[in-house]
Amino acid sequence: DTTNKIALFPADDLPEGEIRAETLPNGDVIAVYNVEGTFYATQDQCSHGEASLAEEGDLCGKFVECSWHFGTFDVTTGEPGLTPCEIPLKTYRASVEDGKVCVEY
Ligand code: FES
Repeated sequence: DTTNKIALFPADDLPEGEIRAETLPNGDVIAVYNVEGTFYATQDQCSHGEASLAEEGDLCGKFVECSWHFGTFDVTTGEPGLTPCEIPLKTYRASVEDGKVCVEY
């Protein structure tokens, strides 16, 4: 199977510690994170409920805390941290090319 890659936005548009949502051409809605200058991407929807991590989450280091029930995920791996989050998030490989954040899907 082939991997697609898309350039989403200028890296300068997402400051450190911030999260933004994007919709990929295949319909996946993802959250893109700037963790101390490195970009990561996961599914946007919290795996515990319906919350959008980009809208409702707070990024602290490499952990996003979902403000609905205060569960956390490691955005670099998708692994759940604090309860009630138990199901890993889908992750997407992110990179910066020509100053733009790119994601593989
Ligand atoms: Fe995210 Fe419950 S919906 S922790």
